[in-house]
Amino acid sequence: MRRKLVAGNWKMHGGLARNRELLDSLVQAIGKGGSADCAVCVPFPYLAQTQELLKGTAIAWGAQTLSEHGQGAYTGEVSAAMLTDFGCRYVLVGHSERRSLYGESNEAVAAKLLAAVQGGLTPVLCLGETLEQREGGITEKIIAAQLDAVTAAGMNGLAKAVIAYEPVWAIGTGRTATPQQAQDVHAFIRTRLAGSDAALAQRMQILYGGSVKPQNAAELFGMTDIDGGLIGGASLVAQDFLAICTAAAG
Ligand code: 13P
Repeated sequence: MRRKLVAGNWKMHGGLARNRELLDSLVQAIGKGGSADCAVCVPFPYLAQTQELLKGTAIAWGAQTLSEHGQGAYTGEVSAAMLTDFGCRYVLVGHSERRSLYGESNEAVAAKLLAAVQGGLTPVLCLGETLEQREGGITEKIIAAQLDAVTAAGMNGLAKAVIAYEPVWAIGTGRTATPQQAQDVHAFIRTRLAGSDAALAQRMQILYGGSVKPQNAAELFGMTDIDGGLIGGASLVAQDFLAICTAAAG
């Protein structure tokens, strides 16, 4: 049995006062841990605050992207070592918003994943197709290309990663993939991974993301190959995020 993980992706939301309220509520409810793991991925400036409020609790934290470089003249970038300085355990890589808005290629994402692992972080590798790609019948082709770019760099990176399947058309739209649609892609990812490393494929946590809410979480998490969720909007509302964590604890 793979352990379930629910990770919040705050995206570019937050503020010191709001964060404190949200994190305090999470600590109160699930700070001592439970049968599912829980994490929040916050904007860089709030890492210190998040570390202060979550340190010593069962809730992990992380960032939403990182540089593929270790250090140097890369204005505006943040390295893996900087993230571990603030106690980060996770970092998202290849979120569809990074791919589409900031031009991150499959190769750049693969480089970031390696940088994260080398820095001691657990990367959450995000994969997903657009609506046009789904309607064009090329979902598996797109997911395969995104995954293969990472496996091409060797399996060492992926061995320390978590995968999140996030269909772009389901992100922030209120339009969730049906549990079966999500399951089909998760099974495809696991099978493709098994082609390179069967044991890794079996133990890989594959999260689903895209309009996960308290109302649909249990059904999604009940699918064979869905090992938790990557939560956007609902991770900003304590009661909703906690309900989703409870659904994962099953
Ligand atoms: P929503 O849950 O707001 O659809 O966002 C999903 C997401 O992009 C998480 O990374």
